[in-house]
Amino acid sequence: MIKKAALNNYEKDLINSKSLKEIIPYFAGKKIHYFLRTNSTQDTAKGLADTGEKEGTVVLAERQSYGRGRFSRNWFSPRGGLWFSIILYPKISPEKNLQFSLITAISLCETLGKMFNIKPLIKWPNDIIYNEKKLGGILVESALISNRVKWTIIGAGLNVNNVLSAGIRKKAVSLKSILRYRINRTKLLAEILKNYYFNYKIFKIKGFKYFRTKFQRYSFLNNKNIKVEEGGRIYSGVVKEIDENGFLWIRLKNKIIRKILAGTILKYE
Ligand code: BTN
Repeated sequence: MIKKAALNNYEKDLINSKSLKEIIPYFAGKKIHYFLRTNSTQDTAKGLADTGEKEGTVVLAERQSYGRGRFSRNWFSPRGGLWFSIILYPKISPEKNLQFSLITAISLCETLGKMFNIKPLIKWPNDIIYNEKKLGGILVESALISNRVKWTIIGAGLNVNNVLSAGIRKKAVSLKSILRYRINRTKLLAEILKNYYFNYKIFKIKGFKYFRTKFQRYSFLNNKNIKVEEGGRIYSGVVKEIDENGFLWIRLKNKIIRKILAGTILKYE
């Protein structure tokens, strides 16, 4: 049985449709599809994109039954977090998923900085880190038709007011545990989306080049010794920079500089 007090707290914290209505006019006709529960906002968004839903449409869920991260890892999505996906139809080459991940990460960090005066960092290519722990993650998926992008879905998950289980707490952190108060997720979502649409507009005109210096400011891996896995091979070296395509350059132990196009960071120190 759910206790009444707990239920009230839950209801108070819901991103209810009334508060969503307040922020929707903000987004120049863009729609937000809101669910109490969905399997994954990524999949719901894909279904909508397949039927031609408008660019910029957002799918938002209080909980996801099968939220997922990169490489199909489970993404724990209980109530109180911010779990959403944005539908885009970019007219750019399909290799740009990495850059989408990086500009989304920049948008999240900028918004959190402005709203709460904290400085989360980006662990290339898709992690939002605070005090060495994971505050959020980004998943970008695209569908292609004869080598052109049909749609791109930007998924973002942010630990906000959600409770983290003891196991997860070793590696992850929530905004509420950092700030020590309950966060208004509707306002937070509104600011994130506002900033994201703004950055996306610039990105379409100027490309990732424009965001490179911003990225360096938030880069968690700069000058760190890392072990990274790319295409089944493991490389160890020191992170030098992110280039204007968003690729990661590392100096290997034998002094050779290597460009990592897509990878998973296995270790850093
Ligand atoms: C990662 O760190 O590997 C990425 C996590 C992305 C999670 C978000 S939550 C909203 C959207 N729906 C999903 O199933 N995943 C993304």
